[in-house]
Amino acid sequence: MNPTAPDIKAETSISRLRCIHCGALADNAGQDFRCPDCGDLYEVFYPGWQTPQGLVAAGHDAAALKRLWRDRKTSLASADDSGVWRFREVLPALKPGHEPITLREGNTPLYDLPRCAKSAGMQSLQAKHQGMNPTASFKDTGMTTAASFARQEGFRWVACASTGNTSASMAAYAARGGMRSLVLIPEGKISWGKLSQSLDYGAVTCQLRTDFDGCVKVLNELVRRKPIYLLNSVNPYRLEGQKTAAIELLEQVNWQPPDHIIVPGGNLGNSSALGKALLEMKDLGLIARLPRLSVIQAQRANPFYRSIREHGGQKLVPMEADTLATAIRIGNPASWKKALRVIQATEGTVEQVSEVEIAMAKAEIGSDGVGCEPASAVTLAGLKKLVKQGFVKTNESVVLMLTGHVLKDPEFTLKFHRGDLFTGSAREKEAEALAPQQRAPLALDASVDAVTQVLERFDSEK
Ligand code: F0G
Repeated sequence: MNPTAPDIKAETSISRLRCIHCGALADNAGQDFRCPDCGDLYEVFYPGWQTPQGLVAAGHDAAALKRLWRDRKTSLASADDSGVWRFREVLPALKPGHEPITLREGNTPLYDLPRCAKSAGMQSLQAKHQGMNPTASFKDTGMTTAASFARQEGFRWVACASTGNTSASMAAYAARGGMRSLVLIPEGKISWGKLSQSLDYGAVTCQLRTDFDGCVKVLNELVRRKPIYLLNSVNPYRLEGQKTAAIELLEQVNWQPPDHIIVPGGNLGNSSALGKALLEMKDLGLIARLPRLSVIQAQRANPFYRSIREHGGQKLVPMEADTLATAIRIGNPASWKKALRVIQATEGTVEQVSEVEIAMAKAEIGSDGVGCEPASAVTLAGLKKLVKQGFVKTNESVVLMLTGHVLKDPEFTLKFHRGDLFTGSAREKEAEALAPQQRAPLALDASVDAVTQVLERFDSEK
């Protein structure tokens, strides 16, 4: 065990930025993280991996990388303790003298979901719970990398537009890193849990009278005018950190990849990041074959689904999005081209699910003792459809990526169990199917008899 901080630079590869459209190379991006030639997004790539022996990360072959990453689990060094920086051979390097900002993110559990498996008609089913990160969503894995680069570049302010999780995560990492943070969120359209986090971590929080896509527009203009570091997922350093969730998952299944990985799709940074990791792990020889990566969207926030189903992925038509899964209420996803690329490369697919299907799936994930926020539950709802269509076979191995913790949006859960999630909406009739999952809290007199009667009533139901 090595209690001193390791030399991150010495162990990592040199990285560069490459435009995903025109291929232009850069070592530093402008504040909007867009290619100045064509306006498209950058991705991080590692020219040093190319060797006469094939692709090798930071001089380590596949077996050595697996050993190194596993051994770090017993190290006490803070960079090794992070489930993101533990994989630093495949991450961009900080300059000498710069330490990562870390809250010990990553290292999240992989759970069996036996009840959900049954409900989806699968022999087995697993979920990687990214809601078990320090701020309770997957965003922390990307925030540790991007916030560390913001501090290295000397920025005093970082900022994001958010549906609530990015902002919670950014606020926490900015605070840890001694930077100020500016949050732009759509007024009235994010959960209280997420809003309260960004306040608690000391962000300057602005609720704009618009939707998420409107917040993005304001922020993009703002970063052109002010020295503010942009922490939305157009920032390629975020996606590098988010990549590690897929690497860690492969490690947890002993590098025997599952047949399918299923992810919720909002701004489409996460699916892009996970797919990039899968392709890199295959190229580096850590896995022998690729899992299929599929993306699920809410039916009324489905621009990516429509792009693929209606336009063959040729274009994306922005829409006004609306869903109770507020985390993915996004009509103009920034990373759709990156996500399209990885879905095609892994031979995955895209599906959409209704509000009632999301609510049912969320309750089922809860009934396995795991729980998640509504946006995460689209994965199970989508899986059920993919099984029915035969795209997923009932004996295949499937991992759902649960992106946020159940406590992120308790209002949704309470309304679900009280039976008023869809009251007064066009979906009231359809929502009757949810009744068997509903467990409203019972108000009783403080007597043993009253509680005993409840127990007996439930016993007699069985
Ligand atoms: N699940 C949760 C819980 C999210 O918070 C998000 C995105 C997604 C899924 C979708 O991931 O955008 O990478 O496709 N939340 C962002 C935010 C947009 O601002 O917190 P994506």
